This record gives sequence, C-alpha cells and structure tokens, in this order.
Amino acid sequence: MAKPKRRYACQACGSVSNRWQGQCADCGEWNTLAEEAPQTVFSAKHDLSSGGRPIRFEALDAPGEKLQRRTSGLGEFDRALGGGLVPGSAILMGGDPGIGKSTLLLQAAANIANSAATAVYVSGEEAAGQVRLRAERLGLSSAPLMLASATSVRDILTTLGNMEPPALLVIDSIQTMHSDQIEGAPGTVSQVRGCAFELIRYAKENGVTLVLVGHVTKDGSIAGPRVLEHMVDVVMSFEGERSHQYRILRSIKNRFGPVDEIGVFAMEGAGLAEVGNPSLLFLSGREEPMAGSAVFPAMEGTRPVLVEIQALIVRLQSGATPRRAVVGWDSGRLAMLLAVLEARCGLNFSSAEVYLNVAGGYRLADPAADLAVAAALVSALGDKPLPKDAVWFGEVSLAGEIRPVAHAGIRQREAAKLGFGRGFGPASSTPADDKGLRYDGLTLLPNLVDRVLGAS
Ligand code: TYD
Ligand code: MG
Repeated sequence: MAKPKRRYACQACGSVSNRWQGQCADCGEWNTLAEEAPQTVFSAKHDLSSGGRPIRFEALDAPGEKLQRRTSGLGEFDRALGGGLVPGSAILMGGDPGIGKSTLLLQAAANIANSAATAVYVSGEEAAGQVRLRAERLGLSSAPLMLASATSVRDILTTLGNMEPPALLVIDSIQTMHSDQIEGAPGTVSQVRGCAFELIRYAKENGVTLVLVGHVTKDGSIAGPRVLEHMVDVVMSFEGERSHQYRILRSIKNRFGPVDEIGVFAMEGAGLAEVGNPSLLFLSGREEPMAGSAVFPAMEGTRPVLVEIQALIVRLQSGATPRRAVVGWDSGRLAMLLAVLEARCGLNFSSAEVYLNVAGGYRLADPAADLAVAAALVSALGDKPLPKDAVWFGEVSLAGEIRPVAHAGIRQREAAKLGFGRGFGPASSTPADDKGLRYDGLTLLPNLVDRVLGAS
C-alpha cells in the first residue's frame, strides 16, 4: 500500500494542503497550518456502483413527526432559537471569552433539569467545583443537573451510552475535547471536527439537543474549522460589550427557524436576566434634549428596538486631517451620508471631526438608520437639539432622497408605545393608525435639514 501522504490543515479556515506553508493560501492567515492525520481516500479504481444498500425515497408531503420543541426556561433563548430547543439538533454557541456563554447554558440546563427532564453539562474548562460555585451564585444549586468535568469524548459517550439519553447535553467547550481516535492536540482542526462529529452523531441518534460552546478568534469567527458551522444545525453568537451590562443572543444559521431573531439579556449579580423590553434598556439615561442625539426605531428580526444615536462634531482650527470615528455603525456608510449631506444640502463637514456612537454598545445593521444618523449629524452641526419625543427612520440614497424601509408601521407603533409623540420617516410610508404618534413624511434630505435647523 502506498504510504499515506502528509496533509496540513489550516487551523483558521480548515482548508487542506499537501505541504506546509507559512501562510494559508486560502484565508491568508499566518502560521495556522498544522499536520493532520492522513485519511484513507477511495482510490480511483474503487467500484462504487455495487455493494451498497438501496436507500428509500420519500415524498415531501409525507406525514412525519412534528418538531416537538422544548423550552429552555429562558424565553429570550427560545426566541433566538426560533421557538425552543429541537430534539436531535446540534447548536454551536460562539462568543468572546467572559461574555456569559457558560452562565447562559448553565441556567438553561438547570431549568431543563428542574422541569423533570435530564440535562447533562460537561465542562472541559472548569472543574466541577468551579461550576458548582457558579451555580450557587446563580441560585441554582438545587437543580438536579448532571454535572461533569471531562475532556475525553470516548469517556463522555461511553457514560452517556449507559444511561437514558438526556434532553440536553452541553459541551463547554468543543476546543477542549479530544478523541483518542484522532491524532493531534485538543483544539486542532482535526480534533475539533472529529469530536464534534462523534457528539453530533450521538445527539442525532438519540434525540438529544446538543449545545457545543465554541471559542472565538480575534476577528470574531468561531475558532477552528469553518466546517464546524456546516456540521451543526444552528450557529448562535452571544454578543455584547463586556463593560456593558446587556448581551444579545443572535442566531447566524438556523435550520429550524429564522436567523434574524435576537434574545436580549442583562448580566447581573445573579446571572443573566431576560430583558423583555430591550428599547427601555438601550434608551436609558436620556434626560434633557441634547444636540446630536436622535432616536432610531431599529428592527431586529420581527422585533422593534429603539436605540439612541449620538453624533459629536468638533470644528478644527488647524488644517489637520479631521477624524471620523464610528462605534456601532458602518464607517463607510457614515462617509457616504456625510458626502450626501455636503453635496445635496450644502452643509460643510470637511473641516470638522465627526464622531458617531450608537448608545450602549449596540451594533446597527438596519439600513433604515440613515435618516436617524443624518438627523443626529445635522443636529450636532447646528447645535440644535432634536425634539425629545421624536423618532427617525428611513434610508437615504446618494441623490438625497429618503427611501421607504420595511416595517414602518411596527417601528411607529413601538415608538408610540414607549411614549414618543412624533415620527419622521419616508413620505411614501403610511402613518401607523396609532393615535399616539404624529407622523411626518420627508421626501428629500434638505427637508430634514430644514426641520432640524428650523426647529427650536
Ligand atoms: P462566563 O459565563 O464564564 O463567560 P464565558 O463562558 O462566555 O467565557 O461569564 C463570566 C463573566 O460573567 C464573568 O466576567 C463574571 C460575569 N458574571 C456576572 O456578572 N454575574 C454572574 O452571576 C455570573 C455567574 C457571572
Ligand atoms: Mg465559559
């Protein structure tokens, strides 16, 4: 038999090459190639046309089992999952270190254990004593949770094979697991992939909901191979600024539900608390009207969230290149909006430093934020506070038109519910039938400038 070839796998993207290189040819990362155990491959002569068992074809509308979802006891977690945990599915949970992944999963596992189902929590990072201390702090000590500290997938699967399959199995984290079937240190691509494969197979065969915690690299992607994301049914990311209190749970991929739903939590002394009304959280601390502050009714999936956008403009005396700094929004989009304000409205930002911040460390991806950002910028430039009870939404085109956006009605209703009295948005959107909010439609960006600078 021919000697198996050496293979090198990039630890960042999972691509395989036949020789070692300093830089991965696929993703461009440096020093990420590591030798992998050779794999047996079918030779070209191998006959694949006989010897297999026939597979069965089924109709799309054949009656099947309905997905029976199980609640995690945390409404926000269930919401981000699209309605609860699906038996026999695998979830990959990523997030920065210290963001609260272990806390969230320990709370969910304890809730499930308390609901008379079995939940197993295997920690490869902390000793059982440490997890117990955390549970004590969370007030969950009495939950009949099955807790273990282990890193060998063989040990874990052997133990689970000798008991009734649990409803939930948490593996914290997949990078600490190792399989003796596979060469390489824990955390390498082949180990991560192999361990995940074994665990997922167990979960699918036994109707167990499996949650794998995944470490995150500097650039925010889940460490180890991208293939891990392909192997699981759901990829979730737990986000937030560690210095801020709240956390957002987002699903990036979901085979059983929508991907744009979020769950919002606040990290408190006794663990993660659910935030049923995120708008209040992101808006907190607004007192007197200030120039440069605008409220934007953002949409996260099907849910409206009101956030505050803050702009600060500093006039430069010298001819130094002015800075543009953005936190929580796209800097390219800010440059575009500034250019449109200059070209279409005759405003001058060229000798001024522009700072833009989305309050509370929130990250905005909704294109409807343009109008609120523009309102904040114009208000800061003219030192004119916006009406305190106003919200702004709409997309701005390069020609300076204010374009319609999705969910205008939901945005207005949410604002009205929280006590806002005025809404400014695209002229083509219809005012919500709500009596609480007075809607003003704007057609062009100069209309906005007139409103803001003309208002006192
Ligand atoms: P942890 O769940 O260990 O994060 P991860 O598993 O994502 O690395 O969360 C650790 C942080 O959460 C830690 O910095 C302390 C904080 N924390 C609280 O503020 N309150 C609590 O009740 C707990 C358990 C943790
Ligand atoms: Mg942890």
